[in-house]
Amino acid sequence: MKSHGLDAFILALPKAELHLHIEGTLEPELMFAIAKRNKLKLRFKNADEVRRAYAFTDLQSFLNIYYEGAAVLQTERDFHDLAWSYLERAAKQNVRHAEIFFDPQTHTSRGVPFQAVIEGLHGACREAREKLGVSTKLILCFLRHLSPEDALNTLDEALPFQEYFEAVGLDSTEKNRPPELFTVVYAKARAAGLKAVAHAGEEGPADYIRQALDLLKVSRIDHGVRCVEDADLVARLAEERIPLTMCPLSNVKLCVFKSLKEHNLRKLLEKGLCVTVNSDDPAYFGGYALDNYLKSAEALGLGRDELAQLAKNSFEASFLPAAEKKCCYDEIDRLGAS
Ligand code: ADE
Ligand code: ZN
Repeated sequence: MKSHGLDAFILALPKAELHLHIEGTLEPELMFAIAKRNKLKLRFKNADEVRRAYAFTDLQSFLNIYYEGAAVLQTERDFHDLAWSYLERAAKQNVRHAEIFFDPQTHTSRGVPFQAVIEGLHGACREAREKLGVSTKLILCFLRHLSPEDALNTLDEALPFQEYFEAVGLDSTEKNRPPELFTVVYAKARAAGLKAVAHAGEEGPADYIRQALDLLKVSRIDHGVRCVEDADLVARLAEERIPLTMCPLSNVKLCVFKSLKEHNLRKLLEKGLCVTVNSDDPAYFGGYALDNYLKSAEALGLGRDELAQLAKNSFEASFLPAAEKKCCYDEIDRLGAS
């Protein structure tokens, strides 16, 4: 049975969102508004028709439409408005901190200047701190369907703006695009002082998680659900508390799991892994951070202790300073006790 008390508890939990593609927060209404002001014609008549097209069979079927939607974004203002509209929603869900992916190659390949992308996003992030009390960090993702050389060029273009982003990541098509391809660009990014994360083990094999850890030297894994295919790897993830930024609603929409009930989030949490709950591309997958917590709690029968642990894990896995993490742990503990 559904408990409204539990729903209120989930809302009240301070949360950190660690796996969120800003381009994946583009709601169809904003897509139309931005297309209109940029004088672009979409192949859809209205927002409902766009939503009806969101029936995916795998990651690639989603990426095709996601890149099509992202093509309306052209100016600094567009990137600002996109991020601002996400951050307003996040604040209402008690997301206190968001580490946000952006895909510059999706935009620079269409002639949009890197500066317009990063300054638009950064401007919204600065405003969110002041007006919404939400802190943020940006994570620049390389598109793994493109070449390692393209990724290196992107890093070179981005480094003059390094003060605006915290880490590099790796996303897009995973199958047959192993992390090892990106060893050199990651080494260069880390040498510049950037942190590193990577998508691995979403559709790709457990070995891609090992490569991300050992070759790219990432400090957390995005998705990682296929780690369960390698018992030694699961033991290592638990032992080293390497965070997995899981996205339950995304995994069901992209057919990684048949249903939420089959998701391995709870099983891995029980094994002592630093599992976190996130939303990936919420405008496409039917829910933001809170919805992912609520629906996972219902499908997997998560109780207060497990939900509080997930929220604590989200801060533990974040790039926040230790003192800020501690404040959030304490707040979560006080909620649990009340
Ligand atoms: N880009 C946006 N969402 C993604 C996902 N779930 N996996 C890989 N690349 C992505
Ligand atoms: Zn993702």
